[in-house]
Amino acid sequence: MAKKSCVSILCFLIIIFSAISVSAQTCDETAGNFKPDSPYAMNRRLINVTLASNVTVHDGNFYGWMGLDPDIVYAVGMCSPGAGPEACSQCIQDTSDSLLKSCPNQTDSFTWLGEEFLCLVHYSRKPFSGVLILEPSKVLYNSVDIEKENLKEFDSVWDELMSRTMTSLVRNNLSTPTSKYYENEIAPVPGYKNISVLMQCTPDVSSEDCKLCLEKSVDYYKTLHHGKRGGIVLRPSCFLRWELYTFSGVFDHIRMPPPSSPPLPSPPPSKTPFVVTNMPVKGKNFFTNLMLVLKIAESVQFDLKTIEAATSNFSASNKLGQGGFGEVYKGMLMNGTEVAVKRLSKTSRQGEVEFKNEVVVVAKLQHRNLVKLLGFSLQGEEKLLVYEFIPNKSLDYFLFDPKKRIQLDWTMRCNIIGGITRGILYLHQDSRLKIIHRDLKASNILLDSDMNPKIADFGMAKIFGMDQNVANTSRVVGTFGYMPPEYVTHGQFSIKSDVYSFGVLILEIISGKKNSSFYQMEGLVNNLVTYVWRLWENKSLHELIDPVIREESKRDEVIRYIHIGLLCVQENSAERPTMSRIHQMLTTSSITLDVPLPPGFLFRNGPQSNPLAQRLEPGEPTSMSFACSLDEATITDVSPR
Ligand SMILES: *[C@@H]1O[C@H](CO)[C@@H](O)[C@H](O)[C@H]1NC(C)=O
Ligand SMILES: *[C@@H]1O[C@H](CO)[C@@H](O)[C@H](O)[C@H]1NC(C)=O
Ligand SMILES: *[C@@H]1O[C@H](CO)[C@@H](O)[C@H](O)[C@H]1NC(C)=O
Ligand SMILES: *[C@@H]1O[C@H](CO)[C@@H](O)[C@H](O)[C@H]1NC(C)=O
Ligand SMILES: *[C@@H]1O[C@H](CO)[C@@H](O)[C@H](O)[C@H]1NC(C)=O
Ligand SMILES: *[C@@H]1O[C@H](CO)[C@@H](O)[C@H](O)[C@H]1NC(C)=O
Ligand SMILES: *[C@@H]1O[C@H](CO)[C@@H](O)[C@H](O)[C@H]1NC(C)=O
Ligand SMILES: *[C@@H]1O[C@H](CO)[C@@H](O)[C@H](O)[C@H]1NC(C)=O
Ligand SMILES: *[C@@H]1O[C@H](CO)[C@@H](O)[C@H](O)[C@H]1NC(C)=O
Ligand SMILES: *[C@@H]1O[C@H](CO)[C@@H](O)[C@H](O)[C@H]1NC(C)=O
Ligand SMILES: *[C@@H]1O[C@H](CO)[C@@H](O)[C@H](O)[C@H]1NC(C)=O
Repeated sequence: MAKKSCVSILCFLIIIFSAISVSAQTCDETAGNFKPDSPYAMNRRLINVTLASNVTVHDGNFYGWMGLDPDIVYAVGMCSPGAGPEACSQCIQDTSDSLLKSCPNQTDSFTWLGEEFLCLVHYSRKPFSGVLILEPSKVLYNSVDIEKENLKEFDSVWDELMSRTMTSLVRNNLSTPTSKYYENEIAPVPGYKNISVLMQCTPDVSSEDCKLCLEKSVDYYKTLHHGKRGGIVLRPSCFLRWELYTFSGVFDHIRMPPPSSPPLPSPPPSKTPFVVTNMPVKGKNFFTNLMLVLKIAESVQFDLKTIEAATSNFSASNKLGQGGFGEVYKGMLMNGTEVAVKRLSKTSRQGEVEFKNEVVVVAKLQHRNLVKLLGFSLQGEEKLLVYEFIPNKSLDYFLFDPKKRIQLDWTMRCNIIGGITRGILYLHQDSRLKIIHRDLKASNILLDSDMNPKIADFGMAKIFGMDQNVANTSRVVGTFGYMPPEYVTHGQFSIKSDVYSFGVLILEIISGKKNSSFYQMEGLVNNLVTYVWRLWENKSLHELIDPVIREESKRDEVIRYIHIGLLCVQENSAERPTMSRIHQMLTTSSITLDVPLPPGFLFRNGPQSNPLAQRLEPGEPTSMSFACSLDEATITDVSPR
């Protein structure tokens, strides 16, 4: 597969592949090789044994050589300031040993390693003390992007921080060897936490050369990995690392934030022996995750021909639905498994982004209340997602149909609410990722043959970092009626925006009414949440209950569910309960429920009966007018099922 023409999701997988074979050791493939039993090999092994003690004896910085011409091995071992003799010795030993193993026959090799602090080991056939060495070099970066809307502000803080750190670093040119040319700095950046940066040069180079080395690293990073959330550049003469959290060594605190969108590898400039990986992390968890993603990704690729055969070449009779991103077809694999194939429209650029998003997000998810992604296919222009086939269509198909609704008794609705709750709970906190679905609605809840709900459509889902709670977007996507006010008016979303949508879903499931059917109810401007709120104020919540729910003995339970729904749609997102709390409240009837505060998008009674003539009360978000005038509008169209 030609790297140049690879579609980005495949590039992503290719990068993951190379990340597994490429570790942080840098073997210079251009400097020459030696034979396993040669004198050079022996000399290097000899240094390996004594280097650590020599470094500690020399206060953390040692340059020496071993052997006779032409088999002399030159070596440097150096620890960052703050490393005690024992820790330094251990770091040098580990680093040296890993270099010998990863670069078995390259005469020249180096790496910077260390968890609590940094240490450097460099082997070479040529003497190099006092010489600036820029190559080989290696870049590691965090694959998660800075949000586009924050990028400009972020860049200016970043640029200033890099140049400030560099300036103060080259001033440290008279102190002891280890603290010479060592600097770390912090700068707060709006919308994120602090940016932390660490820079170090080897003490043997001049301050001009040190500066040049770091400038090259900063430039390289800016050119090729601009907009990422962290990075490391390793060169024989200098080290650069920056992150959105504090760290001290190279590999401490490194977490692998899940890729919210796969990185597009930029081709390195010709002839530069850079190895580009998206591996900001070493450590067991990272590799486990990586292997997992890889294993999943490998196992789920379908041949286009297989899918053409399964769907009778995407015949019209197999079409299940049509959405903005493409069509959905029913298909049957050779082994008899029924599938739903989402075929992304070839022209839609937007669709491609959603596609990558969906594969990356869904491939990692396994829960019985989430629709399972069986695989994908990317061949030529075709972008296909293969899902398990869910036979009983979607919740809206039953709920909003006067006849089919009758089949949904309370036990069934209760089961559906419970399943949706567990599915969202998994997304929000149990899946190891924090995922905001962003488009929960009745048509995205599919029903299996036992009428168990399965949440579908992750095209708009967002993965949050574990410590991230809120994000802003300038592109508000979703479905009006299900979107909370802070999202519609400020583009702000969080797990609490999903909670709002979930609340609307509960109220719809119990009432069997679309919120839009309240449009002009009783001649007033109205929507579902407003209607339910009025019933609450009137102490007549029972009026909401769909008359086809006949189980009188369950009345109190149904009322309790409405009450929980009202807690979910409260205007202030901080007041809305989390999904785990909701799960508790739904399953434990002894928990006393809070009194709900008014919902978001509450329409106060006005004298006018024409909804479009209704004046907004002062202080109400102006978006109310359009939330109301847009009926049934999914702003970003999502494939219906
Ligand atoms: C490097 O030296 C250490 C300490 O003597 C030893 O345990 C290790 O096996 C050596 N590594 C190699 C590759 O020879
Ligand atoms: C390191 O120290 C030992 C003595 O402990 C010495 O024999 C050796 O030559 C020194 N140099 C190197 C490069 O290890
Ligand atoms: C270097 O070592 C690798 C693996 O041990 C081997 O495949 C390769 O042929 C060696 N190269 C040279 C030039 O000896
Ligand atoms: C140390 O840094 C100062 C300020 O950057 C510079 O003027 C001086 O020449 C440097 N000294 C050495 C030895 O590099
Ligand atoms: C989101 O935008 C709001 C203003 O609309 C701002 O107060 C908030 O700090 C922003 N949050 C993030 C995480 O960028
Ligand atoms: C950012 O750094 C400043 C010191 O420069 C510190 O006071 C503050 O607590 C840091 N903020 C975070 C979120 O770490
Ligand atoms: C599907 O259509 C393509 C051309 O559009 C054709 O080459 C292929 O043989 C067809 N496959 C099947 C299973 O009908
Ligand atoms: C049929 O094939 C699909 C895709 O390879 C696989 O996920 C499924 O488990 C298979 N089903 C059976 C019954 O073998
Ligand atoms: C759901 O699907 C199963 C299997 O296709 C079918 O037997 C059942 O009747 C369906 N249920 C409803 C309520 O349509
Ligand atoms: C009401 O809900 C439907 C989905 O059931 C949605 O498409 C529509 O936009 C909502 N309308 C209002 C006014 O909230
Ligand atoms: C509130 O209660 C009164 C009297 O019980 C009733 O007439 C009125 O229709 C109720 N309003 C709503 C919105 O249910």
